[in-house]
Amino acid sequence: MFDFCGTPTIETDRLILRKLCLDDTQSAFDHWLSDERVSDHRVSPAHKNVAETKVRMEKVVGGYDSKEFCYWGIELKDGQVLIGEVDLYDFNPSTGNCEVSYSIGYNWWNKGYGTETLKAVVKFAFIHMNVHKLSAAHNTDNPASGRIMEKAGMKQEGIIRYMIRNAKGQYKDCAVYGILREDYVGEEEGSK
Ligand SMILES: CC(C)(COP(=O)(O)OP(=O)(O)OC[C@H]1O[C@@H](n2cnc3c(N)ncnc32)[C@H](O)[C@@H]1OP(=O)(O)O)[C@@H](O)C(=O)NCCC(=O)NCCS
Repeated sequence: MFDFCGTPTIETDRLILRKLCLDDTQSAFDHWLSDERVSDHRVSPAHKNVAETKVRMEKVVGGYDSKEFCYWGIELKDGQVLIGEVDLYDFNPSTGNCEVSYSIGYNWWNKGYGTETLKAVVKFAFIHMNVHKLSAAHNTDNPASGRIMEKAGMKQEGIIRYMIRNAKGQYKDCAVYGILREDYVGEEEGSK
């Protein structure tokens, strides 16, 4: 059974993971949502205008009314710049399993922020939300995402051919990763 607690603020060495707000709309558009270098690795297309981002942000902010909504903006402590987002979703009440997804703005790639974010959310999922298994998938032509999953303790479980069709109509093979509760907290604790 999940212990839902909404989207509490999570602090790491260099980052604050926090709820998004409508004032973040322009930064989200400028820093990652309008950028095809980011969206090409996701299913949703890049936003063409900030009005699209506003609609999305309104939906996210509305989601915070529910304790079962876990959606963080990723902010650098240094300068309070919003650089990306991460969320937990697809909560399956019968298994206790869920998924994680994330995006970091291109200007901040390869500085360790993705790894720092994912490690923090994996920890949160197992320690605070009683998640049983956390999964994610990345396009095989996006190895950086697989790398951060590995660094966060997730294991590759296989490759699914043509698992998604991106906004440009291209089918993509995806590598599927997962981490079990017992992987994270140890065999004894995980089997309780
Ligand atoms: C995936 C993503 C979140 C990674 O964020 P990041 O902040 O750059 O990640 P980090 O800096 O913590 O780590 C990146 C790792 O990938 C490695 N990497 C980068 N490009 C790579 C490539 N082409 N091939 C192999 N490894 C690569 C880096 O060397 C680094 O590993 P290392 O620390 O062992 O050297 C970011 O690239 C992103 O948002 N991409 C677009 C959206 C996306 O892919 N979302 C996930 C969908 S599944």
